[in-house]
This record gives sequence, C-alpha cells and structure tokens, in this order.
Amino acid sequence: MRVAISGAAGLFGHGLLQVFSRQHEVFALTRSEADITKAEAVRTALRRIAPEVVVHSAGIPDLDICEADPAKGFLVNYHGTRNIVEVARELGAAVAYVSSDAVFDGKSQTPYTETDPTLPPTVYGRTKLRGEQAVKTLPAHWIFRVSVLFGPGKANFVGKGLRKIAAGESYVVAVDQVGSATYTVDAAAKILEVVEARRYGLYHLSNQGVCSRYDLAVKAAQLAGLDADKVIGKPDAQMGRRAPRLKYAGMAMVALKQAGFSPPRPWQEALAEYVESLGPFR
Ligand SMILES: NC(=O)c1ccc[n+]([C@@H]2O[C@H](COP(=O)([O-])OP(=O)(O)OC[C@H]3O[C@@H](n4cnc5c(N)ncnc54)[C@H](OP(=O)(O)O)[C@@H]3O)[C@@H](O)[C@H]2O)c1
Repeated sequence: MRVAISGAAGLFGHGLLQVFSRQHEVFALTRSEADITKAEAVRTALRRIAPEVVVHSAGIPDLDICEADPAKGFLVNYHGTRNIVEVARELGAAVAYVSSDAVFDGKSQTPYTETDPTLPPTVYGRTKLRGEQAVKTLPAHWIFRVSVLFGPGKANFVGKGLRKIAAGESYVVAVDQVGSATYTVDAAAKILEVVEARRYGLYHLSNQGVCSRYDLAVKAAQLAGLDADKVIGKPDAQMGRRAPRLKYAGMAMVALKQAGFSPPRPWQEALAEYVESLGPFR
C-alpha cells in the first residue's frame, strides 16, 4: 500500500513512520515537502506520491499557541486538514486523521465514548473538531482521537520531565488534569491494523487506563529510578497557562472493541517500555 504521512517529522509522525514503513511503501510528507495550509503545495505533493491512504498527523498540538492565535490554529488544524481532504477526494485516497480528546468539554467523570457529545472549551479543541468534520465528508476515512502523547523521536511530556529531574530540577505538573496517556508506537501499530482492515470510522485510541499528568510523571520517574519527589503537583489554575486544560478527558475505546480490535496495553506497561528505551538516567 502507498501511504503518505503528514507531520512525519513530529512526535506522532515519528511513530507512524517507524511502524508503517515496516510493511508499506511510505512517503513522509513534512513541512518542507508541503505546507498543508497551501492547497496547491498539498496537491502537487500528493499527486506525486499518489497514495492510497494519507495518515494526517500534521498540526499544531499546542493549546496555548492556538488560544493565543486562533487564526493560526484554524489555518493549520482546520484549513490544512481541509486541503488534505480535498486532494484525497480528487485522488480517491482514504484519510486517517489524528484527532484529540480535546474535542470534549472535560466535565465528565467517566471515560468519554465515541458517541458522547463534543463541546470543546478551547480554540485547539474547536480546530480539531472542525478538522474531524472536514474528514467526515470523505467516504473513506478514519478518525483516531489520541491523548497525551509520549514516545521516541521528539521531546514530550514524559521525556522532558525525566530530563529535568535527572538534572536535579523539579518538574511541576497538573494534579487535576486527567486523561488517557498514549504511547505513539502502540497507537501507530493500532492505526496500521485498523487501516489495513479498512474498518473506517471514528475511534478513541490510547493505552488502557486513565491517569493524571501527576500520576504519569511520578510513575515515569519511578521507572527511571529517579527521585519521584521532584514531581510537584499543582492545580492547573496555578500553572499560568493561557488555555484551560480539561479536568477529565479519559477515553473509552468502545469503537475499537466493537470492530474486533484489542485495545493497546495498559499505560504503565507502555511507559515502562518507553522509559527503558531512553537508557539510564543516572
Ligand atoms: N501531543 C499530544 O499530546 C497530542 C494529543 C492529542 C492529539 N494530538 C494530535 O496529534 C497530531 C500530532 O501531534 P504531535 O504531538 O506529533 O505534534 P508535533 O510533534 O508538533 O508534530 C506536528 C507536525 O506537524 C507539522 N506541521 C505543523 N504545521 C504544519 C504546516 N503548516 N504544514 C506542514 N506540516 C506542519 C510540524 O512540522 P514542523 O516539524 O516543521 O514544525 C510537525 O512535524 C496533531 O494533529 C495533534 O493535534 C497530539
């Protein structure tokens, strides 16, 4: 299968590239090949690749950047997605879109399912939801909502924290921000499985279980043999961030199970593998 991966130089793109290129003919669509906000650049690049599937992971994942500059957030996350969708339609390609738990309101106390109503309180969440709506206009599409990502290839919540603690610094994280952690390598492998099976639809996709950012950082420090007391938990409201974080964004993987796929392993197991892959911290 010929697969184009947008955002291939990013955190999730790294995992997607690694996993998909083991079995398929993969073309990395980085910003230097095509700025997704430029329709003609996207058209030229995708026509050259002629993919059967576009895995669309490019975007601005930073909530504070989107909140500070909504026009930029919508330009990349929505209009960029629409550009990909329109060219995919012309080429008869299917699109797998990487979306986010940020489409929910964060007020639930139990994991959100794929059929729960969306009501994003942030600009970022609204840009991702509009992206989903654009992708849904294609007959052949998948939407994968992932959550706090960690994995190889690029700085992320877990790796950044461990490096700080190893350098003797504190790592200040939110105690009241709960979600479903996602190991990029596991999520990419599951996307590959679902795409190969051509089971189109909307899927929640993370490692199993729900944890706060504090739980995640503490567990990572423990697994790395570092001083977990260096992880300092604070309420999100005291973190001085521009965009409000969702208090609760746990996701239930109902669609995945209904389609006959097993959900990825529990987050603690995936985290152990990732921390191990980073090598010794002491
Ligand atoms: N990180 C998370 O915790 C998280 C959680 C839920 C959902 N997501 C979603 O997952 C996807 C991947 O996130 P990530 O964490 O891997 O982000 P990332 O590391 O920032 O990667 C995003 C990639 O998109 C590229 N990009 C940005 N603007 C572009 C443009 N105008 N044209 C072409 N490429 C552009 C970036 O290129 P450059 O390298 O050149 O900047 C980057 O390589 C995003 O759609 C995000 O919304 C992420």
